[in-house]
Amino acid sequence: MLLDHADQIRRDVSPKITPKKKSQLGQFMTPAPVARFMAAMFPPSDLSLCRVLDAGAGLGALTCAFLDRWRSGGFCFSRVESTTYEFDETLLVYLEATLDRYADQTNLTSRVVREDFIVQTALAILEDRAPRHFTHAILNPPYKKINNGSQHRRALSQVGVETVNLYTAFVALAIELMAPGGIVVAIVPRSFCNGTYYRPFRELMLSKTALRAMHLFDSRSKAFSDDDVLQENIIIMLERGGGQGSVTVTTSTDDTFSDLVDIQHPFERIVLPGDVERFIHVPTSTEETELEQLPTVRYTLDDIGVRISTGPVVDFRLKDHLRFVPEPGSAPILYPIHFAGKSVTWPVLESKKANAIMVNDDTRRWLMPNGFYCVVRRFSSKEEHRRISANVIGPDDFPPGTEFLGLENHVNVFNEKRRGLPEALAYGMAAYMNTSAVDEAFRRFSGHTQVNAGDLKTLRYPSREILEEFGRWYLNCLNASQDDIDQKFKAMTA
Ligand SMILES: C[S@@+](CC[C@H](N)C(=O)[O-])C[C@H]1O[C@@H](n2cnc3c(N)ncnc32)[C@H](O)[C@@H]1O
Repeated sequence: MLLDHADQIRRDVSPKITPKKKSQLGQFMTPAPVARFMAAMFPPSDLSLCRVLDAGAGLGALTCAFLDRWRSGGFCFSRVESTTYEFDETLLVYLEATLDRYADQTNLTSRVVREDFIVQTALAILEDRAPRHFTHAILNPPYKKINNGSQHRRALSQVGVETVNLYTAFVALAIELMAPGGIVVAIVPRSFCNGTYYRPFRELMLSKTALRAMHLFDSRSKAFSDDDVLQENIIIMLERGGGQGSVTVTTSTDDTFSDLVDIQHPFERIVLPGDVERFIHVPTSTEETELEQLPTVRYTLDDIGVRISTGPVVDFRLKDHLRFVPEPGSAPILYPIHFAGKSVTWPVLESKKANAIMVNDDTRRWLMPNGFYCVVRRFSSKEEHRRISANVIGPDDFPPGTEFLGLENHVNVFNEKRRGLPEALAYGMAAYMNTSAVDEAFRRFSGHTQVNAGDLKTLRYPSREILEEFGRWYLNCLNASQDDIDQKFKAMTA
């Protein structure tokens, strides 16, 4: 198998690429078992001519896996035209040498395009000469933020692709290049499933293709075990112009695929009906989440009159106004360190973070009136048991007469028109956020340890009345165990 040869080159070459270049060009190569698995995902086909695209081909692992499947009888094409895009000269030498090894295959034509895939494809689309004839695409695109004003951003805007990362740009352009019925299999970070910034990409993908399958690795970083890749990765299979039906979700612990579990889900479980954000949920069992089973948990934040905002104080922009020790004329500022326990600890004088912010004309617009708020930290560590953990801030946490609060950008704040919530509601929101059911529902659409306001906006909530009742209970039981919270929640929402 030529994939094994390509994999040997990967093991030799990959460690020699400097970490800087690796991250600049997104050079994380696919190990052979993952490449083979991806090639095996394509459904059988009765096409006689296959045109396969590998954009950002690196050392060619994915094309090799695809061609190996064909050569060993896994596809019945009588001819294959392979197109690979790669722009790094160092890798191109290996890529061309590897593809040359298929030279004995007279019914195969290999074309290596030594250009920038994004710039070249956007230009071809703009000039109406993009081929749009690929029947298969197999991709492991580079992962890198697209900067404003960059050549890539300009090229993509010209063809109406609004996205924030190279990987989604690659997939979006590959979709454009597919023939009707063409299949794209791509291994990508999971971040596009829920980030608000990825919404235009989700809309493009879901309108132009049918999502056929997703594969999730149960444990973080197992797809790229030789590289230190911390992003959670997912393999998706899309069909250009296909009618959306059920979606197959497979999971495996790692890239040995020894414990593969395969479940079909109706599309309504993947993208919830009515969800304007079009979040992509990845259920890993047929069982409904606890929240899905509760008809009483069906309200949006708008329905219950609550807003979620990212903490408005961006500290480095207001550096001159921050104080480690509170002083007259200052307001408390709250960072995640102030929410380390179940209740608020403020000030934390031994910390490197400020405890106060001066109230003046430069800062006032970023402050919120003192009151009751439910706060959810935006970042948790991988080791933490829960992704979502909430606290309540109340006026009693601060000296009498405190008028304003600075909520720092690393926290999310539930509020009502930028003011505090009624006390019972603030506690009810915190109790609800701290249930196991919410943590479970969150993990369905997010592979991050990061929790953004947009994520909390897509969740469903119990009615305001139930939340307030939950809050009145929680207010008196702040030391309640996880079990106590879950049982109370069940009893109230059953
Ligand atoms: C994540 S690596 C994957 C390589 C290979 N497909 C694999 O699976 O092993 C992405 C590759 O895309 C290449 N690349 C990055 N930006 C590119 C661009 N704009 N045009 C063409 N290739 C690009 C990088 O040099 C790198 O080899």
